[in-house]
Amino acid sequence: MNSGDICKLDGHIIRVLYNEQQIADRVRVLAQEIAARDFEKLLVVSILKGSFIFAADLLRSLYKYDVRLEMDFMMLASYGNNLESSGQIQILRDIESSVRDRPVVLIDDILESGRTIAFAKDLIMARGASEVRTCVFLNKPGKRAVNINADFLGFSTPDLFVVGYGMDMSHSFRELPYVGVVEE
Ligand code: IMP
Ligand code: MG
Repeated sequence: MNSGDICKLDGHIIRVLYNEQQIADRVRVLAQEIAARDFEKLLVVSILKGSFIFAADLLRSLYKYDVRLEMDFMMLASYGNNLESSGQIQILRDIESSVRDRPVVLIDDILESGRTIAFAKDLIMARGASEVRTCVFLNKPGKRAVNINADFLGFSTPDLFVVGYGMDMSHSFRELPYVGVVEE
């Protein structure tokens, strides 16, 4: 599978944007960047559902760079239709870990309006974390509504709807091992 290849799945045309090798190479660099920070008592929080595959790959890569950490999960949803998030963020599942006086790295799939990550960051800061850093697989800067950027970033993409590598369109296509653009 190469960048630009076309896949036909369930009546949709999906154009490969980043293939497995490109993703693996990028994830390794992100793990090195995080390892270089030497966080102590690090808590990594994966924001579900979209970041689960990215988080799984990143964690195993972090292990190879000798990063010790604890892992937790938070499930957030934004009201709105399937393709665009609205303003309101809802906690569907909260973390169990205490964040007080420890560094937290938040992992999410996509930074678009910025509302999801900003919400999670504010919440965890308010609970007393010593610092909160954000690690996002894809940045879509075209529709930013909140002033926030990722501290660790996989790729910046144009304003296209993407699926795969954990990201969905109406609950489908999370399982694709590559990132693809859904063509009209
Ligand atoms: P925001 O930064 O609060 O706007 O939220 C970004 C969230 O919207 C991501 O975590 C995804 O769940 C979803 N999202 C935004 N763009 C896409 C896309 O192209 N494909 C799939 N999900 C997307
Ligand atoms: Mg999401």
